[in-house]
Amino acid sequence: MRVTVFSAKPYDEDFLTSANEGRHDLVFTEAALHAPTAKLASGSKVICAFVNDDLGASTLSVLHEEGVKLVALRCAGFNRVDLTMADRLGIEVARVPSYSPYAIAEHTLALVMTLNRKIHRAYNRVREGNFALNGLLGFDLHGKTIGVVGTGGIGRNVMRAFSGFGCNLLAFDPYPNDEAVALGARYVDKDELLARSEIITLHCPLTPETRHFIDEAAIAKMERCKMLVNTSRGGVIDTLAVIEGLKSGQIGALALDVYEEEEDLFFRDLSSTVIRDDIFARLLTFPNVLITGHQGFFTQEALFNIARTTMGNISAFEDDGKSLHPITRR
Ligand code: NAI
Repeated sequence: MRVTVFSAKPYDEDFLTSANEGRHDLVFTEAALHAPTAKLASGSKVICAFVNDDLGASTLSVLHEEGVKLVALRCAGFNRVDLTMADRLGIEVARVPSYSPYAIAEHTLALVMTLNRKIHRAYNRVREGNFALNGLLGFDLHGKTIGVVGTGGIGRNVMRAFSGFGCNLLAFDPYPNDEAVALGARYVDKDELLARSEIITLHCPLTPETRHFIDEAAIAKMERCKMLVNTSRGGVIDTLAVIEGLKSGQIGALALDVYEEEEDLFFRDLSSTVIRDDIFARLLTFPNVLITGHQGFFTQEALFNIARTTMGNISAFEDDGKSLHPITRR
């Protein structure tokens, strides 16, 4: 089958081509998917899209006109897909439900450790012959209370790592699970987690319930927050409210791998252009903010698993008329 792969980077091409084993006709385009580019799918029954591609109603309508029957997402999250519209148009949407909870959990720890011990600043100082320690003071993780929001695959791996440091674990999730309790977590309500946690780390999906989970009201309830970490989805925090929290000191530091308006920024080289997003630009001015550009998933193992499951979804759709991991509407 002919498959148009949107937002394709060289690494996508490498891993997908290898997992394809010559079966399907893969057409790679660097173009991000949205309504104006959807016509590039012409001639393909299947398109493959990534996390920030726009699969709203108008894009889906164009894909439908072009004869697309399957949208194979090469990511887990599907918050940018209008599932009702896809259903109405008879387009199946498949995803990669899990590819490496370790990759994102390990990146979360990398952010926490870097930001706490100011490794990013120390690296630059040492290269300039500046060995002063002023401004690099961190804190022991040992004995700290970590609040984990969302105790699924990633959240539990984060807990496992923090538990190794001798941290106390609090958890919030509408669906508690035994493995998290076995790791030593105590499930509490949102207010208690906000009040007691010294590091708050977000690992829930972006849904109507979790949109702006961290907002002005939530920040007001934080009593000891030395660090807020978001590697889930940008919309889980209200960025403007968090900026105010950083300014007032209510939030001690902020680590982000995702950002509310990231689709206009991330996954491309903008180093020679002016950043027009004033909120993002403001975030960059804080010494206690560390941002990476949605790279939590970016390990060899994760890319291998993503490519293998994506090609599995496409092949199953061709063979059986149904992908391996279709998204059912909630
Ligand atoms: P998962 O489905 O295993 O776990 C999600 C957990 O969140 C579940 O336990 C669920 O009950 C919980 N949850 C649902 N609604 C909630 C709410 N209102 N409040 C608190 N918890 C809630 O998902 P997984 O694999 O652990 O991924 C978590 C999130 O990480 C994804 O939804 C995605 O947004 C993000 N992610 C980020 C990546 C990155 O590169 N930065 C890559 C992959 C995922």
